Amino acid sequence: ANKLGSKKERTLAMIKPDGVTKIGDIFELINTANLIVTKAKMIKLTCQAADFYMEHQSKPFFNNLVQFMSSGPVVAMELMGDEAISIWRRLLGPTDSAVARREAQESVRAQFGTDGIKNVAHGSDSVAAAARELEFFFPSTMGHGPSNTAIFTDC
Ligand code: PPS
Repeated sequence: ANKLGSKKERTLAMIKPDGVTKIGDIFELINTANLIVTKAKMIKLTCQAADFYMEHQSKPFFNNLVQFMSSGPVVAMELMGDEAISIWRRLLGPTDSAVARREAQESVRAQFGTDGIKNVAHGSDSVAAAARELEFFFPSTMGHGPSNTAIFTDC
């Protein structure tokens, strides 16, 4: 923690297929929240979507989610800043965009989302999740051969 008691953190923000056309507005909100985009990449997920959402594989919506996330390109970003993990989650608002419109009118999902599926973007929910999800999109080279190959492997 720094002298003000806040923690410099990194988090994974992923703009979902329905959010890609809103990226200018989303960048503005990120800047206003004092977060910095330190890495970014646009990719089309195929089978990797199932790997990314592995923790939800037993949920009834899993197939829907994977299908939606591979329906078009996504933009993965590393965001840095004080309390970046919770700040980005708060900026996103509740998972369901309709709930977001009731409870967090200024949030990303309230402004640009449709429902609980087309909800614009994803954010890591813990330090451990952020580390895992950043490694997923931006693999470190140490011990893994050339960088940036992991997510492009064939399905
Ligand atoms: S849970 O059960 O509380 O863990 O689920 P939740 O946090 O609400 O949602 C986890 C992610 O699944 C997405 N989701 C869905 N996708 C497709 N169809 C349906 N019905 C659906 N319901 C939830 C939701 O947008 C969450 O995505 P992320 O990327 O984690 O925000």
